[in-house]
Amino acid sequence: MKGSLMLRFAVFASGNGSNLQAIIDAVGKGAIKADLVLVFSDNHKAFALKRAGAARVKTLCLERKDYTSPQSYDRDILIYLKEAKVDFIVLAGYMRLLTPFFIKEYADRILNIHPSLLPAFKGIQAIKDTLTYGAKVAGVTVHFADDKMDHGPIILQQAFKVSEKETLESLEARVHKLEHKLYPKAIALFVDGRLKITGRRVKVLEKPYKPAARPAASEPDVRENAGPIEAQ
Ligand code: GRF
Repeated sequence: MKGSLMLRFAVFASGNGSNLQAIIDAVGKGAIKADLVLVFSDNHKAFALKRAGAARVKTLCLERKDYTSPQSYDRDILIYLKEAKVDFIVLAGYMRLLTPFFIKEYADRILNIHPSLLPAFKGIQAIKDTLTYGAKVAGVTVHFADDKMDHGPIILQQAFKVSEKETLESLEARVHKLEHKLYPKAIALFVDGRLKITGRRVKVLEKPYKPAARPAASEPDVRENAGPIEAQ
């Protein structure tokens, strides 16, 4: 973005990283106008780390077992994020609940994707649960993360009909395909400053909402909203 500094973000992923890949591709195409500066994982075997490496994005892996508590673990991650001047975080299959302390540091600046129409089917087996329950519609939710699992204000949500012949494999494939479209779109709205949060409601604005200047030291805990950052 000419004449301006782009927001810097990190993606957290524990596994395959197909959403990470969609995000990397969207950044590459200029559909997300922000710098992906770090991919963090809690699992050194995560394929997401390989995807990041292939895209020449810096990676960091810290294993929870090396820490005495969730708080000390999250505190350490925060140190790295501040060092990398990370403005916002995208959770993409990160299988760990963030501590309230961590969430507070990046309040309204953490996005998450969930493979169901929240608040239905929270948790790690959402696609299987949707099918087993016999739901007639399935879908994807992108939301801001708060300190409860799969709970924060909803940014975008898209549904589709479950077919009578649906299998777990076919449903998974359809959900993931939709995720790879919806997540980059939601991230771009955030980056462009077009999301206004009021309580649980997230309004998608036609024009950017109060474009904010990034503080000189790029501290992550003092921003009210995202948006392009004009150079001083
Ligand atoms: C996705 O289904 C996402 O919604 C959920 O975890 C899965 C991660 O998949 N939170 P991938 O690692 O991005 O392929």
